[in-house]
Amino acid sequence: MADSITITDNRTGESIEVPIIDGGVDATAWAKFLPGTWFHDPSFGATSAAASAITELDGENGILRYRGYPIEQLAESSSYLEVAYLLIHGELPSPEQFEDWRYEITHHTFIHENVRKRFMEGFHHDAHPMGILVSTIAALSTFYPNAKDLSPEVVNKQVIRLIAKMPTLAAGAYRHSVGMPFVYPDNSLDFAANFLSMMWKTAEPRYDANPALARALDVLFILHADHEQNCSTTAMRTVGSSHADPYIATAAATAALYGPRHGGANEAVIRMLTAIGSIDQVPAYIEQVKAGEERLQGFGHRVYKNYDPRARIIKQTSEEVFAVTGKNPLLDIALKLEEVALSDSYFIDRKLYPNVDFYSGLIYQAMGFPMDMFTVLFAIPRTAGWLAHYIELLAQDSRIYRPRQLYVGHPVRDYVPIERR
Ligand code: SDX
Repeated sequence: MADSITITDNRTGESIEVPIIDGGVDATAWAKFLPGTWFHDPSFGATSAAASAITELDGENGILRYRGYPIEQLAESSSYLEVAYLLIHGELPSPEQFEDWRYEITHHTFIHENVRKRFMEGFHHDAHPMGILVSTIAALSTFYPNAKDLSPEVVNKQVIRLIAKMPTLAAGAYRHSVGMPFVYPDNSLDFAANFLSMMWKTAEPRYDANPALARALDVLFILHADHEQNCSTTAMRTVGSSHADPYIATAAATAALYGPRHGGANEAVIRMLTAIGSIDQVPAYIEQVKAGEERLQGFGHRVYKNYDPRARIIKQTSEEVFAVTGKNPLLDIALKLEEVALSDSYFIDRKLYPNVDFYSGLIYQAMGFPMDMFTVLFAIPRTAGWLAHYIELLAQDSRIYRPRQLYVGHPVRDYVPIERR
């Protein structure tokens, strides 16, 4: 039996055989065979938009690998900065490569003073940090006009700047929202500890984060670093396909992540748990979800039809965090929700399991982050994944994204002057 499919056009009786390669069927063949007839897949639920070597998901078996390495091993043994190198360059770094990479990232954490003084300080005190982040990332493109040069060595410079500056922009947005002075990066600290310093430092000469919390945040950064063709990565590749510069493309991806169906879900989970209020209200809430009146935030996934492997690791990490911070009182409600949902046919039939966002918000809240910073905490590490996809797209020299459509509007009709309407 050949690894292929045969398409027959019953209007003509003609057929073509198309090979199945890498789990897919190339559209070129059937586009020629069926001119003007399109396979309709509005949310790309069954359509591949890219051939990518960065991340592999197996939704049925709950598998996630970055460049072939299982997420469980990376979370256990690696660091976000090393994983970022792996995603961008395709291989784990040698000690010398890692030291160069760490030096470059550490020495590009500063932002131009005007980004802080002119942009961040121009926002309302209660501006949502994601709105500030999207805007300031886009603004960076005006500070680095040579970023329009998409040659590999120039793109790589912007990649280092973006990975390095995201924590600075993120913490700056937070400090502005609470009326605290901006904290400059401390180059003697590692990636996660420096971010925590820029978030929480007050009058002390140096902010030393609790090592257990810094490590837990670094693990969360690893888990959020990439996730193949998710909504925001598709935005990155779409905008990148027009050859917009890396800052503009990253701003578009960050904007896509903001939505509550995507990166905004971790914030929505905490709001949901808070609204439920107590364990004994869980059954009533589950009934509202089953009646379609509510959504079980942090549950369900387009790809995972099994437990999201990241949720399992985050749940383990939460125990280490709560050992330092004290248990988040919403955890018991979350555990009860999970227990009830995983034994209810409504969720089982729809293969709805906790996803990456179900427990992450509990950790962020226990670590003192306000809810409107949760999606920002997702955007910081996902920048490495977005940029890996941007680089891959340019290297593949793929064409500009331009899907077709099924036109279902009015047939042709003549204009009617307003006095005759
Ligand atoms: C992320 O793509 C990625 O990789 C994303 C991400 C990443 O790392 O980039 O993993 C990060 O975005 C995780 C998802 C975070 N979002 C949430 O937790 C929000 C709540 N979840 C959903 O809105 C939903 O599950 C989605 C958006 C995640 C997935 O939506 P799909 O694939 O379009 O699924 P669907 O809406 O077609 O749902 C299938 C059925 C429907 O029921 P029926 O209409 O068939 O009766 O399941 C139901 C849905 O109503 N359903 C839910 C549900 N999610 C789906 N019912 C209740 N609660 C939910 N959370």
